[in-house]
Amino acid sequence: MKVTVIGAGNVGATVADCIAQKDMVNEVVLVDIVEGLPQGKALDIQEAAPIHLFDTRVTGTNDYADTAGSDICVITAGSPRKPGMSRDDLLSINAKIVSSVTEQFVARSPEAILIVVSNPLDVMTYVAHTTSRFPDQRVMGMAGVLDTARYRAFIAMELGVSVRDIQALLLGGHGDTMVPLPRYTTVGGIPLTELMDEATINRIVERTKTGGGEIVKLMGTSAWYAPGAAAAEMVEAIVKDSGRVLPSAARLSGQYGLSDLFIGVPTRLGRNGIEEIIEVDLNEDEMALMKESARHVQSNLEALERVLAAG
Ligand code: NAI
Ligand code: 2OP
Repeated sequence: MKVTVIGAGNVGATVADCIAQKDMVNEVVLVDIVEGLPQGKALDIQEAAPIHLFDTRVTGTNDYADTAGSDICVITAGSPRKPGMSRDDLLSINAKIVSSVTEQFVARSPEAILIVVSNPLDVMTYVAHTTSRFPDQRVMGMAGVLDTARYRAFIAMELGVSVRDIQALLLGGHGDTMVPLPRYTTVGGIPLTELMDEATINRIVERTKTGGGEIVKLMGTSAWYAPGAAAAEMVEAIVKDSGRVLPSAARLSGQYGLSDLFIGVPTRLGRNGIEEIIEVDLNEDEMALMKESARHVQSNLEALERVLAAG
């Protein structure tokens, strides 16, 4: 199996490194427009093979010819946000980049599965879908795995329990309107609501929603370790055809009462990409939050239309 990662910056290089360390594919190709950068990072990752003990071949390139015949592509190309910027502020810059890299990649790998990471995530996934003209099943965005990981990490830190025992569900767009669902969160099979009071749960939900911004404030740029690990987890589910149930930004066609937009929902991932979109019952309050998040994604799609119209 061959995986291409486009964008050899902080997130892209981490995705490539995490995939290599899982020793599950033959080849990872790292692509960037900056000359020397993907080659250097790929070589650095490859030189760790005798330590991590993987056989995956990792190469870097500026030429899409080297990506031909890929099975999966992770798109991380584009600008990250700086302090004071929202993910949405990146829309006009990143739409052009994501569209251009998608076009060049799919011309050489028409059967691949695309996992978009560039922000604003839900809209950039829409851009990759429109540009590639791939079936819905083969285009998805990574955000929910990261946001759920943050949510689970915060719960584990608060309760002093192992992250292994925390299962959680989070829906919606990748932004401050994301919808963590405490009602669907368990710790060792015990509902979270039995282990934590409402005020503490609300504090953790709020921290999760602003988790990306918390790191931007600290570092002056956005996160990469957890995002890279999250994208690699999605790649692994596809490569191993495992049927893992992970949240992805998927194109909805009626599920959750929404259509023609990409937004985070529980999905079953396998060799064909999104094998199934899972609809869970939402109560009135949860559905209202999901609709609000969808309105936010929709307003970004309208902003995208304005950017495209302006050329
Ligand atoms: P970065 O600046 O470290 O890396 C971006 C890379 O993209 C750079 O190396 C740049 O040269 C490359 N690039 C730009 N235009 C390109 C093109 N046309 N073709 C190929 N490569 C190109 O940024 P970082 O931190 O890696 O973030 C990348 C993107 O991922 C950002 O948009 C960021 O907001 C997003 N992100 C999304 C997350 C999510 O949960 N979905 C989490 C973290 C970051
Ligand atoms: C994050 O959530 C900025 O989307 C990026 O870290």
